[in-house]
Amino acid sequence: MRTCIFYLLVLLLVTSCAPGGESDRMEDLLEKMTIEEKVGQLIQYTGRWEMTGPAPGNDYAQTGLQKIESGELGSMLNVTGALATRNAQELALNSRLGIPMIFGYDVIHGYRTMFPMPLAEAATWEPGLARLTSRVAAIEAAAAGLHWTFAPMVDIARDARWGRIVEGSGEDPFLGSLFAAERVKGFQGEDLSANNTIAACAKHFAAYGFVEGGRDYNTVDVSEHTLQNIIFPPFKACVDAGVATFMNAFNVIGGVPSTGNSAMVKGLLKGSWGFEGFVVSDWNSVGEMIEHGVAADQKEAAQLAIEAGCDMDMEGYCYENHLKELIESGEVAEALLDEAVLRILRVKEDLGLFDDPYKYCDKEREKELLLHPDHLALAREVGKRSLVLLKNNEALLPLRKSGQKIALIGELAAEKDSPLGNWRAQAIANSAVSVLEGVKAKAEDSQVFFEKGPRYVSSETGFLTPLEINTTDPRGIKEAVAAARRADVAVLVLGENCFQSAEARSVTDISLKGFQKELLDKVLEVNENVVLVLMNGRPLDISEFIDRIPAVLVAWHPGSESGNAIADVLFGDYNPSGRLPLSWPRSVGQLPLYYNAKNTGRPTDERNLVNTSRYIDLSNDPLFPFGFGLSYTSFEYSDLQVSEPGLGAGESIEIRATITNTGEVFGEEVVQLYVRDVAASVSRPVRELKGFRKIGLEPGSSDEVTFTLKPDDLFYFGADRQWGIDPGTIQVWIGPNAMEGLESSFEIQ
Ligand code: GLC
Repeated sequence: MRTCIFYLLVLLLVTSCAPGGESDRMEDLLEKMTIEEKVGQLIQYTGRWEMTGPAPGNDYAQTGLQKIESGELGSMLNVTGALATRNAQELALNSRLGIPMIFGYDVIHGYRTMFPMPLAEAATWEPGLARLTSRVAAIEAAAAGLHWTFAPMVDIARDARWGRIVEGSGEDPFLGSLFAAERVKGFQGEDLSANNTIAACAKHFAAYGFVEGGRDYNTVDVSEHTLQNIIFPPFKACVDAGVATFMNAFNVIGGVPSTGNSAMVKGLLKGSWGFEGFVVSDWNSVGEMIEHGVAADQKEAAQLAIEAGCDMDMEGYCYENHLKELIESGEVAEALLDEAVLRILRVKEDLGLFDDPYKYCDKEREKELLLHPDHLALAREVGKRSLVLLKNNEALLPLRKSGQKIALIGELAAEKDSPLGNWRAQAIANSAVSVLEGVKAKAEDSQVFFEKGPRYVSSETGFLTPLEINTTDPRGIKEAVAAARRADVAVLVLGENCFQSAEARSVTDISLKGFQKELLDKVLEVNENVVLVLMNGRPLDISEFIDRIPAVLVAWHPGSESGNAIADVLFGDYNPSGRLPLSWPRSVGQLPLYYNAKNTGRPTDERNLVNTSRYIDLSNDPLFPFGFGLSYTSFEYSDLQVSEPGLGAGESIEIRATITNTGEVFGEEVVQLYVRDVAASVSRPVRELKGFRKIGLEPGSSDEVTFTLKPDDLFYFGADRQWGIDPGTIQVWIGPNAMEGLESSFEIQ
């Protein structure tokens, strides 16, 4: 009898804590916190050891340690390694309430193993690969004490002058949204509390890719129409994928700084979209509202930011210096502070930091997992799939492994550092496989002779080091030309050092720099069999050479396994399958350039009528269109079919075509589906990507590819500021890029 009563009591106790009456651990913790401890959760300092923004004035290292010990520093960035993070975390846990810190870092395309830069990865048109690379990046970062990455960067970009175009997935919201979601899922995995998953961060919210003139940190003035139809979708995809955090953008939109944009952050992100994570500012973007001219001082900036829904102040000192007084004076409601604290605490709780704050600082895992051979193998696989073949006349490629004299020319060909890419986290300097190493490893009996040619970079390169390109010392050209003269084929590796793109690397000139043009010219004079391998963080202007060079391969900055990945393609061990994730311009004068443009009232065409929307000195068309890429085989599209003449509410429609490999070798084709809403409540793009599939085909074989569309796949944000679609004609294309394809149409009923 007594036992029965005991169990009854236990049952009663348990059920009394059942949902509804369940105490919320974080709310209980909040109750105990002083205002100083609450404000502390909203502060993020950088580790002394690496700056990714203007270095702070004061000697904050000492201040930082004191603040950690007093429980008034909730987060740090740029602190890496199991040891360093454990040391800092121990200090935090010794504070009064022992709230663990969250360590953030820019794990953009790998932690120690470097994968291709994000733009290159987007060129695979295989979002699933991005999930795999983000998963590996998280495994390595989480073993090294990190909880949180400031990635994925999901800014749509249409202007190659902007250095950060390399950090995103290009110009298209459909492609960009798929990559954004896959990267979030890769970083965060199925369980954020696992010791090999990390919180992701959708950045930069929003419209950072639309800076005027492609000039970094510049003004943005875009319409709600562009925000909703082009810029927001990848961010919404991150929310739908469960992203744990967001980061404000530096820029204003229509005069309102994103960090102080309440309508966008509180109204849309946390309101309509229901985002429950937290928002971190970008580096001092709270304080920069003073420079923007919307805050008189740090105090006003702090008030603007907290009221707009910015939960954490990265290296801004505005919350640290003024939030307490704003609360105590009643100018800012403590409820706002509490909400921000709770959002941050809940992410820390989701990460499992309250259960085991040291689960991520594991020296043994760090040693075992970083640069694991499986990770390097993935880097090579993704690297080769990211390369885009733009031209290959007379089948100059693939190179032969025997019986060929190959001249390999260019400083970038021997580079072991630049191919790692910018934003290289904790990559080991000079650890990439160079093109020279990759080519030599592949060329069995063929002769490879290498000439560096003229120096390309004449200064130390680094994240915060302005780059100097050599424009004065041409030595090396003669030797390079001599090598080309005696070769069957000359492979020139030209383009950009990785620190010529990414943050704070905007340019006005996207052509080949230094002595690269002269070198190319001189080599072409002695050998017409030239393969141009571009290492680049953005599309480069190669128009003056494109008719003279038989083969062009875009390699971007492919990461740790660069040389092997490039050699796999150069020697045909992998048939290139990459496709451009952006339009490749003929000239910087065309920028911003993008395929999903509006028709205008005076579209131009082959007649080139003078009073049409055109340049009088250059074609409007890109040199190579969005979605373009060649293969060592060829493909034919046939038999486009649309399953129904019309599409009504609740219905779906199938659009299919047959693709045939008409060449001699196995190849992969990215079959793309585009639509055009011919007459809508607002002007709609002349093409919109609405589907794609990468298929592999043996020579002579065919495959039928079918895309299914429902009405809401075609929704757009219209004149009525609602998402929807109107009755009318929808043109459709299935083709190999944004400018070619089989055409048909159907009606929205
Ligand atoms: C930088 C970048 C942002 C990065 C942050 C932390 O300024 O704008 O993308 O995540 O600071 O390094």
